[in-house]
Amino acid sequence: MALFEKAPAKINLSLDILGKRNDGYHEVEMIMTTIDLYDRIELHSLAEDKIKVSLWSRYVPNDERNLAYKAAVALKQAYNITKGAHIKIEKNIPVSAGLGGGSSDAAAVLRGLNKIWSLNLSLAELAHIGATIGSDVPFCVHGETAIASGRGEIIEKLPSPPSCWIVLAKPDIGVSTKNIFKRYIHEARSRPVKEDIIQALYESDFMTLASSIENVLEPVTFSLYPEVKRMKEKMSKYGAVGSLMSGSGPTIYGLVKQHSKAKSIYNGMRGFCDEVYIVRLLG
Ligand code: C5P
Repeated sequence: MALFEKAPAKINLSLDILGKRNDGYHEVEMIMTTIDLYDRIELHSLAEDKIKVSLWSRYVPNDERNLAYKAAVALKQAYNITKGAHIKIEKNIPVSAGLGGGSSDAAAVLRGLNKIWSLNLSLAELAHIGATIGSDVPFCVHGETAIASGRGEIIEKLPSPPSCWIVLAKPDIGVSTKNIFKRYIHEARSRPVKEDIIQALYESDFMTLASSIENVLEPVTFSLYPEVKRMKEKMSKYGAVGSLMSGSGPTIYGLVKQHSKAKSIYNGMRGFCDEVYIVRLLG
């Protein structure tokens, strides 16, 4: 029997770095929310003790490097499971884009295998395993809207953002998260005021939210890829009330209230960017 699980993309409403950790990672604070751009995961339990991944993507491997594969293996090892699984992935989320696609696939596999193998694990237990796969996987296990801190594994739920439209523009480059974090230098710079964002979420205040979004990795990615900075400038020029790079980039998103505005931003951005999407928040 097949089980289907949706793996939504995420965007960062904020990304702040508090310092470098002894384990080589950075201490972060990220407010994230899920959007209605999904990969679709189909899972089949196998009697045979093996994990098989099928997907049709030029950019994503279907072997042990795939985060969905790693998630299934980590779950099997943690709970001594001798069954196997066939994981089929329909990729819709752009890859290496800052939208958490690989992490969300891994999270969906954890949620799905928890069901088909009747493990009855809580989301917190699945997120704990997810943290061994990647820093964004714990957030993706929970989904909705949350602040992630520590390395990304400490999750506190937040209210959903006010309803609005998101325009995503993904420049035709792939960005290595590791490379962007490595080049980050802690210095006086514009940083997110998380209290303002959190208050805007509690008060469902779109204007404050749109003017408070901030990502300290923007200057790093912008200096390596000036076209990403230009994309953000265009997003504002075409009418986004707020715009930001998601994660380590290169995707830039813009926030607007009305669909008609989203449509005109979409049309403007399509003039020089192939991958543009209009989506809603799931939050
Ligand atoms: O955890 P994940 O494998 O997704 O992270 C990719 C890279 O991003 C890490 O190898 C690390 O260089 C960087 N990173 C970091 N601090 C974090 C999360 C990621 O330095 N909190």
